[in-house]
Amino acid sequence: MKKRIVIFASGSGTNTQNLIQYFQQGEVAEVVLVLSNKKDAKVLERAKNLNVKSLHFVKDALFSENGVLKILQEVQPNLIVLAGFLLKFPEVILKEFPHKVINIHPALLPKYGGKGMYGRHVHEAVVANMERETGITVHYVNEHYDEGAVIFQKSVSLSEEDTPQTVAQKVQQLEYVHFPKVIEELLLNPKTHSATHSPPKHG
Ligand code: GAR
Repeated sequence: MKKRIVIFASGSGTNTQNLIQYFQQGEVAEVVLVLSNKKDAKVLERAKNLNVKSLHFVKDALFSENGVLKILQEVQPNLIVLAGFLLKFPEVILKEFPHKVINIHPALLPKYGGKGMYGRHVHEAVVANMERETGITVHYVNEHYDEGAVIFQKSVSLSEEDTPQTVAQKVQQLEYVHFPKVIEELLLNPKTHSATHSPPKHG
């Protein structure tokens, strides 16, 4: 039987679309549900167009025992994936699904993580600091923004000519290639990854 993936996303959802299509072509898993806190998020439309159930929820439902948690208890996902999800993830769900919630961050954590560091803000900071590399981090989610144990990182070189837009493109390419494979590997070998340590704090 295929493993079940639930995705949380707040925005455009290009990663969500990529994940849905990747797993639709294989036998390992399927994306069974896409949840968004934004009613007009393009991700909901992308999921619908690919015949995946999608739901919008209000913020209060995320933190209540009878809201999003109840939906997840019914679905019993093997993995919960945050793909551009911009709200703090609630402890009530983390407790119910230990080591089963992962996030993708568009930088090499612990650099450029924390509250307010998402999407273009990350790439703008990377360019402002004249970094010579950036990348992606896939990590477990814990109660602090971007601090759970790292599962996977991949870097890409930057040059003086890079702008926040070109950095975003480079990072997206890494996300599209590696994120589905990292998820697949986690689902096939859940015990090979430790979730017991956190990366050092930045700053
Ligand atoms: C992705 O680049 C993801 O890494 C980032 O948001 C983008 C969502 O793009 N996530 C964060 O910044 C979380 N802190 P998408 O909606 O097109 O998949």
